Amino acid sequence: MKESTFITWKDTYSVGIPQIDEQHQELVYLTANLYTACMQGTESGRLYFKQAIHKIVQYVSFHFSAEEKLMERIEFPEFAEHKKQHESFVKKVLEEVKKFEGGKAIVPPIFVRFLRDWILTHIAEEDQKYGDYVRYFKKESVAAEVFISSESAQAGGTGSSFTGSS
Ligand SMILES: [Fe+2]
Repeated sequence: MKESTFITWKDTYSVGIPQIDEQHQELVYLTANLYTACMQGTESGRLYFKQAIHKIVQYVSFHFSAEEKLMERIEFPEFAEHKKQHESFVKKVLEEVKKFEGGKAIVPPIFVRFLRDWILTHIAEEDQKYGDYVRYFKKESVAAEVFISSESAQAGGTGSSFTGSS
């Protein structure tokens, strides 16, 4: 994984569920790549941004539905509230993507900063809550079960290959 000062994974972000941590790391990686691409100022950077933005939207919805399935399965009491946060984030991101595609002026690095800030705050604060809940009620094995059936169907993976070269 490429080191980035813009966004870096920290062990304190861990929610204690390996599959979720992996997905969060992938989000960090995709966001770092997106920022690198849009700061290139090259045509290949712009092209990458255009494609990568879709990849991130796709990955975010894949990840949110995994989390939501998990919260449902472990009977997390704040599930509804957490889901609402996911929904409003997705709504905002899609609005920006729509603006971008409609040729309206969005500033890509500022948009990526918004992504980063939301993702990191959400991981560091909100996602920790279901992590604590799992630990407190010793629901680790229930949490793990959620991923047994979905692992083979997992979308994403570290498929991005932006190198920054033009
Ligand atoms: Fe979440």
